[in-house]
Amino acid sequence: MKLTILGGGGFRVPLVYGALLTDRGEGRVTEVVLHDLDDSRLYAVARVLAEQAADVPDAPKVTATTDLDEALRGADFIFSAIRVGGLEGRANDERVALAEGVLGQETVGAGGIAYGLRTVPVAVDIARRVARLAPDAWLINFTNPAGLVTEAMSRHLGDRVIGICDSPVGLGRRIARVLGAKNPQEAWIDYVGLNHLGWVRGLRIAGRDELPRLLADPDLLGSFEEGKLFGADWLRSLGAIPNEYLHYYYFNREAVRAYQQADKTRGAFLADQQARFYEEMRRPDAAALTAWDRTRAEREATYMAENRETAGAGERDADDLSGGYEKVALALMRAIARDERTTLILNVRNQGTLSARDTDAVIEVPCLVDANGAHPVAVAPLPDHATGLVCSVKAVEREVLAAADSGSRATAVKAFALHPLVDSVNVARRLVEGYTAVHPGLAYLG
Ligand code: G6P
Ligand code: MN
Repeated sequence: MKLTILGGGGFRVPLVYGALLTDRGEGRVTEVVLHDLDDSRLYAVARVLAEQAADVPDAPKVTATTDLDEALRGADFIFSAIRVGGLEGRANDERVALAEGVLGQETVGAGGIAYGLRTVPVAVDIARRVARLAPDAWLINFTNPAGLVTEAMSRHLGDRVIGICDSPVGLGRRIARVLGAKNPQEAWIDYVGLNHLGWVRGLRIAGRDELPRLLADPDLLGSFEEGKLFGADWLRSLGAIPNEYLHYYYFNREAVRAYQQADKTRGAFLADQQARFYEEMRRPDAAALTAWDRTRAEREATYMAENRETAGAGERDADDLSGGYEKVALALMRAIARDERTTLILNVRNQGTLSARDTDAVIEVPCLVDANGAHPVAVAPLPDHATGLVCSVKAVEREVLAAADSGSRATAVKAFALHPLVDSVNVARRLVEGYTAVHPGLAYLG
């Protein structure tokens, strides 16, 4: 079984490889091909993987290449985790937006639109190549903004592209734990929305919805990440637990202010941190795995720090620091490769699940996964306030896809202007000016 990782020089690749190393079963991945545009990043990550595999018998073989077509040929699975424009691009997304007083987060609001506008053309090119060179492969998309990018690729790959995110999985795991489920797998989580824009409306253990018990108990609500971020009162008013990224919507003013006042934006912080790591990897005597793990721990500990600060949420729970990103990917791959039926929250085409959206809209929803792919499960309808947000943000995503397709600057302005977190058409116009001035990847917007 051959797995190709696009963005193979990326910092999170050792997480995926570490998960593969734990898989001893029949039909496991035996060959990993790393693809990246940058040789030195490939070299750095390959060093970490080599140390991870040192004492593991039959570790998956790793090769690296900068030739995309070569990487795709013969792949059974393709993970796409690329970052168009790099972390400097992410920092610019934040800077330009914050200067206009709006959010520059990489997936939410103006920043997510800018990032989407430069990522979609690259993702579409990849999808076209996959359709030609590896038509039977499954493409697992990690690339943010994950819902939008998955939808762009689905126009060429249909249901063979599946988007993943660890946020809903982490949320489900946290609530299940708080409610006393021995194993999160025994809980059925009623979650739906778009990527980074979804709500848990129920959590059934042994056939009983336990969410009302959680919502009624301020101590339980104060004991996990989303409870601390949103506060017990607001969660009770909503009657649901939102994905952590909804903090940027419900507490937008505070989030923007905190990000404006921070010493460095998240992208700028990570750009410096990662530059140090990749630099260190050039030294022949560097302890690659130790350096990677130290860098990873620091990254995890500071995740969403400004949001947690405005909410007075304190430090992250130790249990939340190990992510889960790689576990979702591996679980998905195993379910497909071995026909091991499982349920996972994934980004797939709607197919009638949310009646307020068309069948091709990619949404985030629990899916049954087997050798035939991921099949969305019927869920209860969203309340109006959530449907409203989902529909406006999906409309914005469609404008991004249209702008990427046509190269129309007016359509790009429309995408920004229609976003609920961008409060004026004039701001949208200036954002397009600002972003096209700093991003070479937006030169196509004539
Ligand atoms: C979560 C999100 C991912 C995102 C990551 C960002 O896991 O679900 O979509 O890539 O956080 O973390 P970062 O360390 O890059 O700010
Ligand atoms: Mn995500």
